[in-house]
Amino acid sequence: MTITQLRGRSMLGLKDLDKEEIETILERAAYWENHPTKVHTMMQGKFAANMFFENSTRTRFSFEVAEKRLGAEVINFSAAASSVQKGESIYDTVRTLESMGIDVGIIRLKPNGVLAELSEKINVPLINAGDGNNEHPTQALLDLYTMRKHFGNSLHGLNVSIIGDILHSRVARSNLYALRKLGAKVSFCAPDNMKASELDAPYVSIDEATQADVVMMLRVQLERHESGMLSSAESYREQFGLTTERAARLKSHAIIMHPAPVNRNVEIDDELVEHPQSRIFPQMENGVPVRMAVVERALS
Ligand code: CP
Repeated sequence: MTITQLRGRSMLGLKDLDKEEIETILERAAYWENHPTKVHTMMQGKFAANMFFENSTRTRFSFEVAEKRLGAEVINFSAAASSVQKGESIYDTVRTLESMGIDVGIIRLKPNGVLAELSEKINVPLINAGDGNNEHPTQALLDLYTMRKHFGNSLHGLNVSIIGDILHSRVARSNLYALRKLGAKVSFCAPDNMKASELDAPYVSIDEATQADVVMMLRVQLERHESGMLSSAESYREQFGLTTERAARLKSHAIIMHPAPVNRNVEIDDELVEHPQSRIFPQMENGVPVRMAVVERALS
């Protein structure tokens, strides 16, 4: 496979994808969602390896469901039960699976930049399942897909607020890059110590942020925090959480989103997770057809 073919099939981030490519993937996801057959044979004989060096529930399982629905053979690698525990490097691990004949690698990693390095050395398409605080492209694609299902296929002019721990969020970054390409207006809302100064989007107050068409809450990523970043869960909820009081003032057509996992009663009140305006579980449902489209693109 040439470098150009490999790059065209890999999915490292949405920063480098153009509007047409993003829309093609979303249209293909709609095809898969509306396709009644549960398991297809089109990817029979292809091997997909899910390599998660960091924990995951939604991304890992929805990739596995997507691969199986396409008829692919699935290999699941877990760092906790591998030779990574003996000190083997990420590169040697991925290279090992490549040498066994996988056709696509889905990778989640903690450190930034390693995926880009791997993509220069590994000769099979790689799909980013979340790398550090860099990008989480398939999460943003399923978020766009969810927005299109509610607001129609054009997201041009849509107001999207992303609220919370922007600094540590790969979801915020991938959504910002993709939403801008599709013509949406993105605002951020965050405590000062969770702002990302390198990202070019306006910061607004929580009252303004919750007047958007899409109110996207982010998980406070305690595992990535230096000590002292969060004074208390209660004060974060009061200042930046989507509380029932704030939710009562949402626009009637607005939707609530969250990539999950959710810290209930910190960034979002418990009873709002399955509120009629919430799309949190539909987001997870939409992850399967979106990832089918992304895996199909990598394997075809
Ligand atoms: N949204 C998301 O990436 O969830 P997981 O960490 O469970 O995969």
